[in-house]
Amino acid sequence: MVGIVSLNPPYMGDTAMSYQTEYDLSMNDPEGFWRKQAEALEWYKFPQQILTRDADGIGYWFADGEMNTAYMALDHHVSNGRGNQLALIFDSPVTDTKSKFTYSELTDSVARTAGMLADLGVVKGDRVIIYMPMIPEAVIAMLAVARLGAIHSVVFGGFAPPELALRIDDAKPKVILSASCGIEIKRIVEYKPLLDKAIALATHKPQNCIIFQRPQCAAPLTAGRDYDWTTLLAKAEPVGCTPVKGSDPLYILYTSGTTGKPKGVVRENGGHAVALKYSMKAIYNVEAGDVFWASSDVGWVVGHSYIVYAPLLQGCTTVVYEGKPIMTPDAGALWRVCAEYGVKALFTAPTAFRAVKKEDSQALLMKNYDLSKLLTIFSAGERLDAPTEAWLTDNSGKPVVDHWWQTETGWAITANLQGVEPMTIKPGSSTMPVPGFNVQILDENGHQMPRGSQGYIAVKLPLPPACLNRIWGDDNKFRDSYLSFLTGYYTTGDGGYIDDDGYVFVMGRVDDVINVAGHRLSTGEIEEVIASHPAVAECAVIARDDELKGQVPMGLVVLKSGVAISEADLQKELIARVRETIGAITCYKDTVILARLPKTRSGKTLRKTLCKIVNGQEYVVASTIDDPAVIPEIIEVLRGKQIVP
Ligand code: COA
Ligand code: AMP
Repeated sequence: MVGIVSLNPPYMGDTAMSYQTEYDLSMNDPEGFWRKQAEALEWYKFPQQILTRDADGIGYWFADGEMNTAYMALDHHVSNGRGNQLALIFDSPVTDTKSKFTYSELTDSVARTAGMLADLGVVKGDRVIIYMPMIPEAVIAMLAVARLGAIHSVVFGGFAPPELALRIDDAKPKVILSASCGIEIKRIVEYKPLLDKAIALATHKPQNCIIFQRPQCAAPLTAGRDYDWTTLLAKAEPVGCTPVKGSDPLYILYTSGTTGKPKGVVRENGGHAVALKYSMKAIYNVEAGDVFWASSDVGWVVGHSYIVYAPLLQGCTTVVYEGKPIMTPDAGALWRVCAEYGVKALFTAPTAFRAVKKEDSQALLMKNYDLSKLLTIFSAGERLDAPTEAWLTDNSGKPVVDHWWQTETGWAITANLQGVEPMTIKPGSSTMPVPGFNVQILDENGHQMPRGSQGYIAVKLPLPPACLNRIWGDDNKFRDSYLSFLTGYYTTGDGGYIDDDGYVFVMGRVDDVINVAGHRLSTGEIEEVIASHPAVAECAVIARDDELKGQVPMGLVVLKSGVAISEADLQKELIARVRETIGAITCYKDTVILARLPKTRSGKTLRKTLCKIVNGQEYVVASTIDDPAVIPEIIEVLRGKQIVP
């Protein structure tokens, strides 16, 4: 434990400032702007290097600052009079459980859990994988790892063993924390057999696993490797915070790219804490003491940033919800939680609102609850469609704020900044660039597109604090994947345009990433699984528009010659294969057998054309197509199945 050697008075935010002034400040004097934001946090040693840049223009924020994120998020508040305030509310309709932790209680639990990990030899820089359901122990585990200066990598519970194994081999954790089970609407998901299978598949073997036994299911432990969480914790002593540098990694979060292998986005401690703290007031307009609820999962970036770190850095009360927006028990779940805990800002994905709208189209359940404390509803993770936005706005009477961001950035790139200057909401737009993000629409040669014209959405370097500047375990991957296409810019992978008023419209991915119920998946990865089926010669996985989930994957498959399998049987086998290899969250259901796929003369599959055909959009057949006759052939097959009119 170290003492605080530098404590700067917190910067309370300049609420009188207009958006434009704030944004211009961040562009004209990034170091001054972010130094000021950094003063809002309690550092052990305030950074002297605010921004350093390498030859490629990649930015490194607060590299020489000394800090501990868990200290800033917990102990700081206890020492500043918030010990008795609620830090975390756990609400689990699926187990009929509720519990609450004050800042003092959460700090103590985190310190003891850190002690438990330290007893197993976890030290600064070690990796710890967390594969857990939405229970307070998952949040406590993340903060405990951070307390030790170690690096967590949370793996979403919906991923299957091979996905977990990929992450184990890449992150090489010393310890894995898990639970006996998670609870879905209709079933209990036993995590331990999945974990055991993943460890068996992985080349790297963790030294130990710690399993939180839930009453719904007991997991058998492997002698010599596994420990029971509760028993081990009972023997542990609380430990203090290990100081880290601003540039030391806080976590690795894997996300889907265009290839089969997920990318480990590295989040540094310093920039992350500064940007997230800033965002709480600037974007979400919440202050210390307010209740903030991001209805997501700690396995996703939204969960990392806005269930765990940002609300606690701001001194808010965060809600950890183990349930769904519908069926647990009904489509009033979101409103019940908001009313019961006095949530001031609610944040979730459009799919959740679409699910609620489908079940309760008149919003009758919403009217059962007192939502007077709820000021704003935030949406991200996928495009917020205009009908859902209108339904939500009309029925709630609250501003519905769409904001756009990515695992890579860790916080919003564009938003309607509620704590700076709330602006007119334009349906379909996530409003303006957030201070720090120089957002441009470029063509493939890096030239700026005129207002209103669609192109690649890129962010001029340097990226602001919190954004990634490396991929775990691969020094070149960040440059190769994100910086090489448009020199001097970070390529977001999204396409869109900026209108005459400066509003940004994100229209969708320009690569092979798809978004299923706000969950980011790679079509390339699904293709690899389908192609491994013995009957399949080749395939293309495309995103089909879906009323509820936004997009769902569809497999267009060509069989090996001479193979006799019905489409129904193949579909059944492919569904099982995709669920077992990637996970049920892929929502892979539809398979269509085709005689051949459309290809260019150089052999590239025309996936975008297929995608447009399946979704009934206008398409232009590329002049490079090998045989144009394939297109009417495919349309005929799709018509026969009533996929297209
Ligand atoms: N562990 C294990 N399995 C999981 C899981 C988890 N943590 N999360 C989801 N799954 C499974 C589900 O049980 C389901 O399995 P099934 O096919 O056997 O029924 C499958 O993955 C698909 O899950 P999901 O897309 O969540 O569908 P659903 O029918 O269970 O629920 C919604 C539909 C709309 C209620 C749900 O998608 C939802 O709440 N979406 C909001 C999205 C969101 O919060 N995104 C976070 C990013 S901001
Ligand atoms: P993830 O990394 O899982 O957060 O997914 C990021 C991707 O989700 C982005 O690149 C977008 O394609 C999509 N996305 C997130 N938020 C929005 C939004 N508000 N509007 C449109 N697309 C979004």
